[in-house]
Amino acid sequence: MRLGVLTGGGDCPGLNALIRGLVKRGIHEFGHEFVGIENGYMGLVEPELAHPLTREQTRGILPKGGTILGTSNKANPFCYAVREGGRWVERDLSDVAVRRYHEMKLDGLVAVGGDGTLSIAHRLAEKGLKVVGCPKTIDNDLSGTDQTFGFDTARATCTDAVDKLHTTAESHDRVMVLEVMGRYAGFLALDSGIAGGADIILIPEIPYRVEPLVERIYKRGTRKRSFSIVVVSEGACPEGGSLSIAEKAEDVPGRGVVRLGGAGKVAADLLARHIEAEIRVTVLGHLQRGGGPTAADRLLATRYGCKVLDLVRDGQWGHMVALRGCDIVAVSLGESRKERRVDPRGELVRFAKSLGISFGDEALEVGGSGG
Ligand code: F6P
Repeated sequence: MRLGVLTGGGDCPGLNALIRGLVKRGIHEFGHEFVGIENGYMGLVEPELAHPLTREQTRGILPKGGTILGTSNKANPFCYAVREGGRWVERDLSDVAVRRYHEMKLDGLVAVGGDGTLSIAHRLAEKGLKVVGCPKTIDNDLSGTDQTFGFDTARATCTDAVDKLHTTAESHDRVMVLEVMGRYAGFLALDSGIAGGADIILIPEIPYRVEPLVERIYKRGTRKRSFSIVVVSEGACPEGGSLSIAEKAEDVPGRGVVRLGGAGKVAADLLARHIEAEIRVTVLGHLQRGGGPTAADRLLATRYGCKVLDLVRDGQWGHMVALRGCDIVAVSLGESRKERRVDPRGELVRFAKSLGISFGDEALEVGGSGG
């Protein structure tokens, strides 16, 4: 078989491990041929962005971050940005993508990506293309799978940042705020906040009030070690507040979604009105997407890459590979279109609260915040 492979959306650690696993098993066990489609769906719409993907090209890439195929989060064939009359307009070029697929004489397409890439894959499958999906994202916000690869590495990076901020927080007796990614899901903030021993974790799923945060910080102030660590997910908002947006969707042709940023500063500014301690904000940004994958991500990505070939062999087009418990299984691509979010009443949030971590939604203790 001749299989096209593309990686779409934001890059993440593990993409190269997946490509290697797919190509290695595909060639050795099944005798498949691979076509590397560059820059996500851009390579399926634009000419000359598809090339043979050989075993030679995938040697030595297992521990490397990024993707040898390149990626794009602004190349949706269903609303593709094109320049017309000196301005950008969005056009439905999905028929062009379907035509190019056939011109490349593909027997199937492997689309590796997050919610955007996989929902496009689902729509292309509905248009008759033979597509298998593979879930990746540092946000871990994809329904249908227990975990996406890329998440474990990003979580380790965030936890390392919390550890590093601790030392300055402690030395200067400061409140250190760390803003992490995750879009509308708080998994990165929640996990790294708990793993790093944060005092406050703010996530999109739990709108926060400043009073419980102030109370938590003041309570710590009564001890010898009064510094505080606050981990803020980029999608977190105060109650009645709105998302912190760095760039509107319409400002970037073809992107289709807003770019978040600034939630850490919003929380810091609110706190500054109530507390005297110095506050510093760190935005971790794209460091979270960089670097080589952890062993867990290499393993998950490799398992996904190998499992894709089982789906191809069994004709399970329109499905994606997914982790369920300890097993890699096939689930409908439609599953990826559902949201996955932190459960505010789930075990992890409850345990975090039982450790004294504030999410900004707790009832105040009698006597108020003390602030
Ligand atoms: O979805 C992955 C992600 O890193 C999000 O956590 C973040 O909001 C977004 O992508 C950033 O996108 P960009 O790389 O375009 O700034």
